[in-house]
Amino acid sequence: MSNIVADVVVDVQHGDCGKGKITHHLARTGNYTHVVRYNGGHNAGHTIYHEGKKFVTHVIPCGVFFGIESIIGPGCVVNPKRLLEEMAELRDAGIEIDNLLSIAKNAHIVTDWHLMEDGKDEKIGTTKRGNGPAYRDKYARKGVRAEQVPELQEYLIDVYQEFHHNVEHETVEILFEGAQGFGLDVDWGDYPYVTSSHCTVGGAILNGIPAQSIRKVYGAAKIYETYVGAKEFGMEEGIEAKVIREFGEEFGATTGRPRKIDWFDLDAVAKATDINGLTTLVINKVDVLEKVGRFMIYHGDNKFEFDTIDDMKYYIEEHLKRNNFEVIFSGNKDRI
Ligand code: IMP
Ligand code: MG
Repeated sequence: MSNIVADVVVDVQHGDCGKGKITHHLARTGNYTHVVRYNGGHNAGHTIYHEGKKFVTHVIPCGVFFGIESIIGPGCVVNPKRLLEEMAELRDAGIEIDNLLSIAKNAHIVTDWHLMEDGKDEKIGTTKRGNGPAYRDKYARKGVRAEQVPELQEYLIDVYQEFHHNVEHETVEILFEGAQGFGLDVDWGDYPYVTSSHCTVGGAILNGIPAQSIRKVYGAAKIYETYVGAKEFGMEEGIEAKVIREFGEEFGATTGRPRKIDWFDLDAVAKATDINGLTTLVINKVDVLEKVGRFMIYHGDNKFEFDTIDDMKYYIEEHLKRNNFEVIFSGNKDRI
């Protein structure tokens, strides 16, 4: 039996808060034996700056940038054609992925039919990557698993054996890389304007690890909010939204759609902090809000405006105080 220790990176808003940056930073420490994507599929877009180059990954975990074994977990859905394309792109960019990347044999497949169905969505504003129909079929017990796909045979892995009976490592130290965010979670998000997977720390546990193996839970937030999809969201389109979108590069990493923008919602972040049991919260893009020069938050039924960014940070920190918990503020391209 191996000892298992797991750290999890989740997003506490509507996705796009910098999980890629946090996982990249953590993976670089070299502490981990595995990096695992645990939910979602090609709907995700993780923007990573590696050795001065920008990468956008969709299903491939960022462990491959550091020679760490990387697994697409059983909680994910995978489109084989797109996966092979993403692998080819990374290879072409000089990232060594062979012998590093594997797919849980019980992960589910996004079929052409799923893609076609999702392509017709107008109600939710999905990324049209087939996620909803693939998860629907998984739960309806008529899905296709990775182990049934000939092109994927060479990449398959049994995560039970890999995590619990690892012959190479006495202690298996896993970094779980979440996708999407709390506000899009199928149970906790603003249903039906959600994705079809579990974006909380609970979603990581579903990937074959014991609950007590969780050590740290890192949350990613931004000092303002963004959302992409069909529901009404956000502030009026004025100069503030424009400046945030421009300086914050708030366009979908997967679809290129402009993200809707709003002020920071303290209660929503507090709820996601509690439900995920965060040990660290990273609030990103502070410098983007400084460009706007307006420091607003929603708290309870009120909207507060602060004179300075420091007043705003102080207020947020005071109200998020919890035991064994730290808040880190970070700029757009800062390292953590
Ligand atoms: P789906 O996950 O493609 O079904 O889309 C459901 C909702 O989640 C839509 O509002 C999407 O815009 C949103 N969504 C899915 N993946 C991401 C992501 O990685 N970042 C931000 N929004 C996402
Ligand atoms: Mg994203």
